[in-house]
Amino acid sequence: MKSTQVLMVLGAGLLMSGCHLDMVIQPKVKSQSENDFFADGKGTRLPVEGAVEYGKPKTDSAFYTGYNESGQLVSEMPVKVDERLIKRGKERFEIFCSHCHGDLGDGQGMIAQRGFALARPVGNYHTQRLRDMPVGHYFDVITNGYGTMYGHASRIKPLDRWAIASYIRVLQFSQAANPNDLDADTRKALGLSGSGTGSGVLFKTATSAPAAPAQVPAQPAPATTQEESR
Ligand code: HEC
Repeated sequence: MKSTQVLMVLGAGLLMSGCHLDMVIQPKVKSQSENDFFADGKGTRLPVEGAVEYGKPKTDSAFYTGYNESGQLVSEMPVKVDERLIKRGKERFEIFCSHCHGDLGDGQGMIAQRGFALARPVGNYHTQRLRDMPVGHYFDVITNGYGTMYGHASRIKPLDRWAIASYIRVLQFSQAANPNDLDADTRKALGLSGSGTGSGVLFKTATSAPAAPAQVPAQPAPATTQEESR
């Protein structure tokens, strides 16, 4: 073969290989796209009737949604509150929330301070309205977001969402504590005069739970039996 012929063959080969769109237009269904194959024209199929989610059925409404069976926000923590849960909540809060809400939950996180143009100011947990909110509200806000705040359901597991909710209560208490609400021992430990009238109990819990942070022992509490993977 002459060199011109070789060049022509090579050139033709190059042209042909560069022109087909097999890799671009692939015979596959892209999510949310139309598809004539199905009578309803939808490419994305719904699960067959009766399909259940992989894993355990999520029947515990309070735990998984923050609402009870009658659709009201729960005012009691559906998990046991102890030092470990609160510490976990603090850790998670400082990872996922404090850059906007601030370490104190006053809405003055770095993002707010640096003028990140949020359509609405970052929530401040120390308003009377939020203090009065049932604890389920915090679970719901973390799960589904609120106004301009995005939800965190895909990033934070339910048990951790409750841990954060418990820590929000601690933050609220820390900024609006009334020394008279502390029990006698705690008042004594803090060097406050008088006997105090309060029980010192911060949380109402469905199960019989200990746990005012003021009463938490100095040593870490024993490992909880709550299932960490939930
Ligand atoms: C990117 C910034 C950002 C992050 C991260 C963020 N938030 Fe928010 N949050 C906001 C803004 C903004 C609002 C106010 C939304 C509105 O009023 O439309 C808000 C509001 C709230 C409120 C108040 C809801 C009400 O009833 O007024 C709560 C509670 C809350 N966030 C909790 C959390 C928790 C807990 C986390 C972490 C898991 C978190 N947020 C992470 C920006 C953020």
